[in-house]
Amino acid sequence: MLEGKFILVGVTGGIAAYKAAEVVSRLRKLRADVHVVMTKEAAHFIAPLTLQSLSANPVHVEMFTEPKLWNVEHIALAERADAVVVVPATANIIAKMAVGLADDLLSTVLLAVRSPLFVAPAMNHWMYHHSATQENLRCLTERSVHMIGPAEGFQACGTDGDGRMSEPEEIVAELERFFQSQTWLKGKRVLVTAGGTQEPLDPVRYIGNRSSGRMGYAIAQALQEAGAETVLISAPTSLHPPSQVLHVPVMTALEMRDEVIKRFPEADVVVKAAAVADYRPAVQSEQKIKKQGDKLQLELIPNPDILAELGRSKNGQILVGFAAETEELIKHAQEKMHRKNVDLLVANDVTKPGAGFGSPTNIVSFLFPDGRRIDLPQQEKLEIARRLVREIAVLLGVKEEN
Ligand code: CTP
Repeated sequence: MLEGKFILVGVTGGIAAYKAAEVVSRLRKLRADVHVVMTKEAAHFIAPLTLQSLSANPVHVEMFTEPKLWNVEHIALAERADAVVVVPATANIIAKMAVGLADDLLSTVLLAVRSPLFVAPAMNHWMYHHSATQENLRCLTERSVHMIGPAEGFQACGTDGDGRMSEPEEIVAELERFFQSQTWLKGKRVLVTAGGTQEPLDPVRYIGNRSSGRMGYAIAQALQEAGAETVLISAPTSLHPPSQVLHVPVMTALEMRDEVIKRFPEADVVVKAAAVADYRPAVQSEQKIKKQGDKLQLELIPNPDILAELGRSKNGQILVGFAAETEELIKHAQEKMHRKNVDLLVANDVTKPGAGFGSPTNIVSFLFPDGRRIDLPQQEKLEIARRLVREIAVLLGVKEEN
């Protein structure tokens, strides 16, 4: 999987920098073309010559030295990379990446990179848990950076806890998995719905819900990373659709239904992450509804259940549904899974802190009709989305069981 890939290894100044040597060595053994950019601080921990010998390529440290390449060095390195991995990533480089600082060669390269970016954090346990670091990590994850670790255990500073860099073997395995995953869904057509539908009452008001669309957008991103031809049918959100995903904006449940049903016959997979209004106003007033007396009664009529409709008419497609619950999560979710005839149901209790609408993280369980169940810990929505894509690949038979 890594043969011939141009892998840029960024090394920063933490004690785990010595482990970068093993990462470079393992990547080379897998026949990757490895290029190292290190910070001056990293050069205190490990000699550039070591990494140069192991990578068999010049090591870059200084921004303003004689160029070793044919082009503006930082841009050339960034452009040629098939993937970039920062190992170890100190709290400092993570903060610089989060705000976009470019004050040395590595941070400048990282700003110019367009290829997938992997970060292996390594720092003292308390530095890792500082809210500034956590916010920076979240910011990077939201920008699709892949986090590897950190792991738990004894740290050089004498503390015990999480913050240790993941082992080189795990870091390289993660890169291999990534390049493998890019091919899983090649040629597959996937529909994703996202956001909360809006059901107009009059020209200025609507009935809506609290869905932010983040989960569905993260799924579209993860599907696109896995090579799927992705169509994102989205109710209004404040999010930017991932690049290379076909974005189809809709407003109401009826509009969403039309777009989904139209595309369903050609789809291999449908992921229904949208929060669809179960009811809509019976009448949509053409004029703004005026204040009237001390009571206003609205009549609502049912919307079609799009997922249930797909479940009835599916013909080989994989259907993934969601269940947003506030009580008896698994019981209600299982009932929905069978009633709507889905192949995988993602259940989440939207009342839990760190889960549900608007939150950058979620806590979900995957349920399968054969009774299997996978409970995931609280994670960024993009991490959950990538895990979901793995399960979809298994259901499609293009990947072995996890
Ligand atoms: N769904 C749908 N069309 C609807 C309502 C829901 O396609 N009119 C889909 C959602 O996109 C989601 C799943 O059905 O994948 C479950 O949605 P949820 O709101 O949790 O369940 P409901 O079926 O609406 O049941 P209830 O509101 O009673 O919990």
